Amino acid sequence: MSRLNERIARLARISATPPDQGITRESYTELYEEGLRLVEGWMADAGLSTRRDAVGNAFGRLEGGSSGGPCLLVGSHLDTTLNAGPLDGVYGVLGAIEAVDRLRGTGSAPGRAVEVIAMTAEEPRFATGCLGSRALVGDMSADVARHLTDRDGTTLAEAMQGLSMDPERIPEARLPEGYADLFVELHIEQGAVLEQRGSRLGIVNAIAAPHDMSLTVTGTAAHAGTTPMGLRRDAFLGAAEIALAVEAAALASATGRTVGTVGAVSVRPGANNIVPGHVEIEVDIRDTELDPREAVVADMLSTAEAVCARRGLELDVKTIAQDTPVNCSETVQKAVAEACVECGIEGHVMASGAYHDAMVLARKMPVGMLFVPSQGGVSHHPDEHTDPADLDLGVDVLAGTLRRLTEPAL
Ligand code: GLV
Ligand code: MN
Ligand code: MN
Repeated sequence: MSRLNERIARLARISATPPDQGITRESYTELYEEGLRLVEGWMADAGLSTRRDAVGNAFGRLEGGSSGGPCLLVGSHLDTTLNAGPLDGVYGVLGAIEAVDRLRGTGSAPGRAVEVIAMTAEEPRFATGCLGSRALVGDMSADVARHLTDRDGTTLAEAMQGLSMDPERIPEARLPEGYADLFVELHIEQGAVLEQRGSRLGIVNAIAAPHDMSLTVTGTAAHAGTTPMGLRRDAFLGAAEIALAVEAAALASATGRTVGTVGAVSVRPGANNIVPGHVEIEVDIRDTELDPREAVVADMLSTAEAVCARRGLELDVKTIAQDTPVNCSETVQKAVAEACVECGIEGHVMASGAYHDAMVLARKMPVGMLFVPSQGGVSHHPDEHTDPADLDLGVDVLAGTLRRLTEPAL
């Protein structure tokens, strides 16, 4: 087994959720800290000088031959969602350490500095994802940290303080202008496109971005036995019609690629003998193109308003995230394609349906991504798996990509 695959297995073991419930390593927990310390040790073993920023993103730096100038960032996130698999995010961080270790092993320093980055809180423990990368682009504050809560009501600020981090220092995590001018992220595909095509490596040309909303429908809680059907203001029935409107609007999208999901529903009071008075649904709508996505959102919201008016319900809409889709750097795509040829394979150009830290970092610098196949397209699940040989191949391609992108001429 390669060192990469051994390390992936080691991290998985220390974050395993018994019995056989996959891996749970949520951001701002002791388990996350334990995993991060291990990874920082591996960064140091690869000759990288390590540091952490004010939100807990970890960096490992390899200096370049010429001093000064922006560095190239390469990495992903180390946190997982609940009952996850061993690869999402972790692969991109550990794969970057391997690839940068190879750059160092060539004996001569790369043309410019390279930093491996392990970002925190990419998964939405605190409702919004990519919090580590949002802090890097200056889109996080102590105030936001005091308002974001997890499923148990713990705020991000409290979780940070529990690990001796000061939320007031969050703005310090913002990368100074000119600090880095390129970000490369290696990741598992989390879908089945590569597997179905028999391709071993994906060259990402675009990243779809979500518009996430929380919709609260308010009616009147009433006795389920004594309230005639015609006299009800049933919040759940309104929400159910809105969920179908999400599907209809996505299916009618101009690109034909918009996806819409209602993935969380909370019904109150929540008893089978009470007509629901309040329902909150979380809606996620994504596309690689902004305007068609926003047209789907508008279509869905106008149906939601009409549904609520017809049923005598109130509707409150809150935005959770409204990110911008990304076109990936042509330079990175070309370097990945060439590195694929060097490794004897042909890369498949494709879009990412999942969001990634690269989507957020793209606000400040060009970004590129490489995908390896996910068995059965499964991810965010204990069965998440990629053939270990494909994981190693992805690192070979990443190493070739970094070599090209750090050549002094660039
Ligand atoms: C990332 O985890 C996503 O939901 O795309
Ligand atoms: Mn994920
Ligand atoms: Mn991920």
